[in-house]
Amino acid sequence: MPVTRRSYTGPGDLRAMQGLAQRIWSKSSSVHVGDLAWQRFQHVGREAEWPTVLWEAGGEVVAWGWVSLPGELGLLVDPARPGLASEVLGWFEDTASAAELTVTVLDAEKHVIAALERSGYALQERSAFQSYMSRLLVDLPEPVVPGGFTVRPVGPDDLERCVAVHRAVWHPSRVTGPSYRNVMAAWPYHARLDWAAEAPDGRFGAQCLIWLDEHNAVAELEPVGTLPEFRRTGLARAVCLAALRAAHRAGAREAVVYPVIGHPKSAGALPLYRAMGFRPYARTLTFTRTRRRIPPSPGPASPEGAHSRT
Ligand SMILES: CC(C)(COP(=O)(O)OP(=O)(O)OC[C@H]1O[C@@H](n2cnc3c(N)ncnc32)[C@H](O)[C@@H]1OP(=O)(O)O)[C@@H](O)C(=O)NCCC(=O)NCCS
Repeated sequence: MPVTRRSYTGPGDLRAMQGLAQRIWSKSSSVHVGDLAWQRFQHVGREAEWPTVLWEAGGEVVAWGWVSLPGELGLLVDPARPGLASEVLGWFEDTASAAELTVTVLDAEKHVIAALERSGYALQERSAFQSYMSRLLVDLPEPVVPGGFTVRPVGPDDLERCVAVHRAVWHPSRVTGPSYRNVMAAWPYHARLDWAAEAPDGRFGAQCLIWLDEHNAVAELEPVGTLPEFRRTGLARAVCLAALRAAHRAGAREAVVYPVIGHPKSAGALPLYRAMGFRPYARTLTFTRTRRRIPPSPGPASPEGAHSRT
């Protein structure tokens, strides 16, 4: 079957990219359908910084690459077509504008790592990486909600409060009302899995958004956060457990979460998930290489990568 290549044209193509993520989902895969929706829609106005290309065969996506200009690549390649990894890397080199090319993969994505090594990329020892953690959704404890708070799924009038808690947790953040509205419109968002802890004064003190891949029965937590003034009171644990129980009722058998390790903003993430029974099963690796070809023209600077957590 011939493989064709085309550029990303809009949200319908993200759905097709999610189709690949869903089809090849395993503990060796770096992308959950929810992570892709969150990363693409959490900010608006960044399409020009994010050249994206899809490789297709037989009417389905078999690989994709997503560049964050000037020089970072996220990619997903069907392990049944390992040769496409080199094609994605070739396109990346033609597209990036930075002197150094950076690619982040999961340590279990052996077919992509082999292509990176063949292309002369070297593994970097970075202090920050993402730990991939999972937990079966059995024996989930009842949430213990701190006094005065109400833990509940968000409703139709909660958009501004969802944005406010996220922006305060991840300050400075580019999440806005319009961008969160796009998140809520993205597949497979569902408000029954978007949970918040409401403080006595009406603010949201903590949030936990869960994305459910119904086909694989895997739920992903992204994002999770507690306002600084309410931390270490049990709020994140309560809102996450409530959301996880809702995900279980909706059909999830397992949950995954990808905390950044070694970043000062998220020092509490790993201990929080460990305390809730999550265990690491993989981690991200970063490869770099100096580019060989002369860039056609400089692209816009991007302070945050495709997988930024703000
Ligand atoms: C991580 C975060 C969500 C934790 O929220 P929280 O409401 O303070 O967490 P909880 O009070 O529910 O903590 C539950 C347990 O997790 C562990 N924990 C949470 N934060 C911790 C920290 N900073 N250091 C050590 N352990 C921590 C503890 O075991 C804690 O139980 P204990 O207080 O009885 O010891 C919060 O620090 C935050 O918003 N950080 C910035 C955003 C972020 O990193 N989000 C996660 C991204 S994946």
